Amino acid sequence: MPFHLVDHPVIRERLTRIRSVDSGTAAFRSALHDISRLLCFEVTRDLETKVVEVTTPLRKTDGHELSRPVVLVPILRAGVGMLNGFIEILGDAAVGHVGLCRNEETHLPERYYFKMPAGLAESEVILIDPMLATGGSAADAVDEMKREGATRIRFVCLIAAPEGVAAFSARHPEVPVYAAALDECLNEKAYIVPGLGDAGDRYFGT
Ligand code: PRP
Ligand code: URA
Repeated sequence: MPFHLVDHPVIRERLTRIRSVDSGTAAFRSALHDISRLLCFEVTRDLETKVVEVTTPLRKTDGHELSRPVVLVPILRAGVGMLNGFIEILGDAAVGHVGLCRNEETHLPERYYFKMPAGLAESEVILIDPMLATGGSAADAVDEMKREGATRIRFVCLIAAPEGVAAFSARHPEVPVYAAALDECLNEKAYIVPGLGDAGDRYFGT
């Protein structure tokens, strides 16, 4: 199972602020942004590059550029909170959107929006959402992107539940999952425990 726990002292410190019930909207946003930038570094570590020639003020030499375009796909709403951190590093990335909302009774995701940029099949696709709870939202999003031709997909979240990692990986065993924390379990409402509560509500102040 390609599960990567991204452990870093600054991530641990920011994650503590995010979890705290005493952190307000500004603190939550700022910490999520910082963690997203740090996660981006790790999530993109194995992207392929190709050699290109670059001319410095002194002479020509070998440089590198990414072999494939990158497409970032936040799952609405909460994934938007991680987008700018990734865009700051991957400034040329195109952005697709998947709108999914969990039904509060069934806990199953319901789709309300889907728009991808052209060229998905040739791109490195990074799906982003702070929470991997039951795994249904992320797995459905990957289903949709595969239908659109995506083959190189990685999923990155802030907090994963063991149940979500198992369910997601059962449906998409080849898709690597990156997380800043692997929490204990889900509660009876399918919320991650200890978690951070409702990521979308906390990020958007709703
Ligand atoms: C949250 C979260 C994920 C999903 C995870 O979104 O941002 O998308 O739940 O749960 P799952 O792994 O059990 O599918 P939510 O459905 O609450 O929508 P929101 O982002 O609009 O608040
Ligand atoms: N969605 C959230 O925002 N939080 C959880 O703990 C589970 C799903």
